Amino acid sequence: MAKKIQWGVIGSGGIARRRTIPEGILKADNAKLSVVYDINEQVNAEVANEFGVRQANSVEALLEADVDAVYIATPANLHHDHVLTCAEAGKNILCEKPLGMTIAEAEEMIESCKTAHVKLGCAFMMRFVAQHVEALRLINEGRLGKPTYGRAQLSCWYPPIKGAWRQDPVTGGGGSLIDMGGHCIDLLEMFFGKVSRVSCFINNTVHDYESEDSATALLRFENGALATVDTFFCIPDASSRNVLELYGSQGSILAKGTIGQGPAGQMVAFLEGDNKGYDAKQTRGEDAAITIAPEPANTYRAEIKEFTQAIIEDRESVISAELGLRSQRVLAACYESARSGKAVEVA
Ligand SMILES: NC(=O)c1ccc[n+]([C@@H]2O[C@H](COP(=O)([O-])OP(=O)(O)OC[C@H]3O[C@@H](n4cnc5c(N)ncnc54)[C@H](O)[C@@H]3O)[C@@H](O)[C@H]2O)c1
Repeated sequence: MAKKIQWGVIGSGGIARRRTIPEGILKADNAKLSVVYDINEQVNAEVANEFGVRQANSVEALLEADVDAVYIATPANLHHDHVLTCAEAGKNILCEKPLGMTIAEAEEMIESCKTAHVKLGCAFMMRFVAQHVEALRLINEGRLGKPTYGRAQLSCWYPPIKGAWRQDPVTGGGGSLIDMGGHCIDLLEMFFGKVSRVSCFINNTVHDYESEDSATALLRFENGALATVDTFFCIPDASSRNVLELYGSQGSILAKGTIGQGPAGQMVAFLEGDNKGYDAKQTRGEDAAITIAPEPANTYRAEIKEFTQAIIEDRESVISAELGLRSQRVLAACYESARSGKAVEVA
């Protein structure tokens, strides 16, 4: 049997425990979980016990264990230092988003991994949602025509919690925009290419913590397409349909609920081709909708499998750290726009 890549996890107690370990590292047939570390000893012991693996009592101890790759799922402000430490130890790294707190941090993380000849990925797992993969295929085949407009929405209810790292920009880098809007921007860049210019509002509409609970961003892409991102920590979970809408000169792809953690949601496409004339009555027939319902994929499993395979094949992963750096550039322009009240070019 082919060798499995041995994984270690830093920050085992959150999304790692809920999703990435059970659905990703334990399920990907090219990966094996070896050791976990969390600063919360009790939680780490529980996770190690739950999944039947070793527990480390420090980052250093984890790195001395027999691991080829490390998944970093700590709060955002710790990603930079954890990546540098893992790179120095010669480990391949899949870092949760955001890739550090700033453009400069993301650049340094990428540079240190290049110097150490290890791979660095950024965990934008929503790229692996089966409907998103299919939508991308249709767009790449030109079925949407020239991309014109997109909307990506991701909102939830996130009330004030004492000590929550996302609710303080010092530890989270921002609020709903960086935390959830980052996924939306990344998806829109996957579909439409690079964002060149942004205009953004952020606000605290309901909650009074330091990070924003509300954000809307207007994006202009290099290819001329426009898009909006809306992302709120103050809309009840079931009330946000997490809409994804992609329009082009020849059709549209419309989804609800595909942006999120689990394989879910519905997607339809209207693909009208390029032989449509001008219809003064603007007839809109629902029956033209094509249902896009590919075999569901577990995004965490697909993400771990792909990054692990990139290590095995010594190639760039489709979720390379460059995505994390792009995300930092667009997010930085959004926050600058929100601060200045002006449209901002993406660096
Ligand atoms: N892609 C996704 O589906 C997804 C979902 C949620 C979170 N995330 C990302 O994952 C990361 C973690 O988010 P979360 O929701 O799991 O947060 P969390 O607070 O629930 O979990 C973070 C864990 O890190 C541990 N930790 C804190 N400081 C540490 C340190 N110095 N060393 C080791 N462990 C430490 C905490 O004890 C905790 O168990 C963030 O970057 C977040 O953006 C991604």
